[in-house]
Amino acid sequence: MIGVFDSGLGGLTVLRELSARFARADFVYLADHAHVPYGNRPSDEIVDLTRACVEDLFERGAKLVLLGCNTATAVALRRLQQQWLPSSKWAGTHNVLGIVAPTVEAATQTPWAVTSPQYPQKNNTDTIAVFGTMRTIASGVFPEEIRKRCPKVTVIQQMCSDLAGAIEDKRPESELNVLVAEGVQSALSQTSNGLPHQAILGCTHFPLVEHLFRRHLPPSTRILSQPVIVADSFEDYLHRRANFLVGNEGKRLTLLTTGDPQDVSAKARVFWPDVAAFEKA
Ligand code: DGL
Repeated sequence: MIGVFDSGLGGLTVLRELSARFARADFVYLADHAHVPYGNRPSDEIVDLTRACVEDLFERGAKLVLLGCNTATAVALRRLQQQWLPSSKWAGTHNVLGIVAPTVEAATQTPWAVTSPQYPQKNNTDTIAVFGTMRTIASGVFPEEIRKRCPKVTVIQQMCSDLAGAIEDKRPESELNVLVAEGVQSALSQTSNGLPHQAILGCTHFPLVEHLFRRHLPPSTRILSQPVIVADSFEDYLHRRANFLVGNEGKRLTLLTTGDPQDVSAKARVFWPDVAAFEKA
């Protein structure tokens, strides 16, 4: 069983792509609606909430958990991988992965396996705009990971503090449009020529309003939306670590929420019409 976690509905954008690719696999998705949104919470709280959800998924039988949430990945992944997991009862058998590194690898066209100090992307001088929650942007993880691979890239960061919550609350399109327009204008004002080469939608909720980002970004800006990127990377990981697929042919999709299952199911169907119903975690 493979676990996918998000604070709310955003991770479904990733899960939907994964479940289409791994049609025979058994997935369990956990959304922490009791605490969504995570993006404006203190870091320690995000770590505690994320760890509790990963533990829950492990207890339910998932051996591999993907944090389908940039905020949780940016703030909690390293602490979970380096401090918590190695000293837990799941050490050596279970793993937890995030979605920032695959996104950065796609943006910089520098796969994890690239080791040559002379690889051509090292001289890349693009400008990349990153849109995310307050906590993701404050963590600085996107610029850090981008510059490790491409030190000459200019990274512009833009907090969209209220956007994930507004998407989760199903606010009217006109309100979402204003929030996206403000974020994009603020990001463009940070560039020298107003033309970022790429824009990373660094929050799993944002693909749900990708059309609004497209409306306000310059036509030449390539938008990187995570679901396909993350699924490509996850597929590659599972090729190398096929043990996580062994015995994993239940072909079941279980959707869990710490919130109200009826309310959450109704909201989820707005962007995934035939999605299964949520159950109480
Ligand atoms: N969907 C999440 C992300 O990718 C978190 C949004 C939130 O809970 O603030 O950042």
